[in-house]
Amino acid sequence: LLVDCTVGLGGHAEALLEAAGPDARLIGIDMDESNLLAARERLRRFGQRVRLFSANFSELRAVLDEAGAPAADAVLADLGVCSTHLDQADRGFSFLQDGPLDMRLDARAPRRAEDLVNLLQEEELADLIYRYGEERYSRRIARAIVAARRRQRISRTLELADIVASAIPAPARHSRRGAHPATRTFQALRIAVNDELASLETMLGALARALNPGARAAVISFHSLEDRPVKRAFADLASEGKARLLTRKPVTAGEQEMDENPRSRSAKLRAIEWLGL
Ligand SMILES: C[S@@+](CC[C@H](N)C(=O)[O-])C[C@H]1O[C@@H](n2cnc3c(N)ncnc32)[C@H](O)[C@@H]1O
Repeated sequence: LLVDCTVGLGGHAEALLEAAGPDARLIGIDMDESNLLAARERLRRFGQRVRLFSANFSELRAVLDEAGAPAADAVLADLGVCSTHLDQADRGFSFLQDGPLDMRLDARAPRRAEDLVNLLQEEELADLIYRYGEERYSRRIARAIVAARRRQRISRTLELADIVASAIPAPARHSRRGAHPATRTFQALRIAVNDELASLETMLGALARALNPGARAAVISFHSLEDRPVKRAFADLASEGKARLLTRKPVTAGEQEMDENPRSRSAKLRAIEWLGL
């Protein structure tokens, strides 16, 4: 039994099912309904072998219970957003295309990025941008946001991207190794809107009750705030003798993969083999 905690468009799930052979079954989880529809289509040919759940992966154990599965033989999580999220302006993740400041992965979630940007106190905003974006100009950016929203509610992605860019001193704005000046602020808002780090911690904590002895768990992260908790959780399990590290150093994309898929640039994969409690 394979569990893809972030089934997305079904690419990994399809590859896993093909690699695992005709007896393998897969549970796919995603909190984005539109991605689940795409995954359903892509995985249709596997028939009853696939079950998809609209859920947060923090509910991994509950999903296994609902599927009547005591434990899994492989668990994969490929964190964050999909390329389709970044490419669809109306989802509000992109600072390059104009769209509403939404950023919710789960359309039922209570807060959009627009709510945070317009309602948080200046200090709360600065802390959020610093903590989840590791943005050194967080205070200046928060000040600029508050000044701008006094004039008019901020509701569009490009509006926010401009406000952020103008708050960063010009030399720093142009020296960010090609990254857009709003990258870190957008990352911070996305993490806060979707409560991403809390979900990750909960899922990592649930692995012990979700894996069969000999099972493998792998997580692909895209920035240090995600990679750190994964590294720590896996190291703790290994030092307690419950798991064996399969990756002393994270696996990263090679030159060719980065050329073919620039978004693989920041991906880091870490994996363990579960030994048992
Ligand atoms: C990088 S994409 C995964 C792409 C997938 N591996 C594929 O092959 O198409 C991440 C997916 O995880 C989902 N996601 C992110 N955080 C989640 C969470 N806490 N619970 C459930 N799904 C989540 C997103 O909606 C998105 O579809």
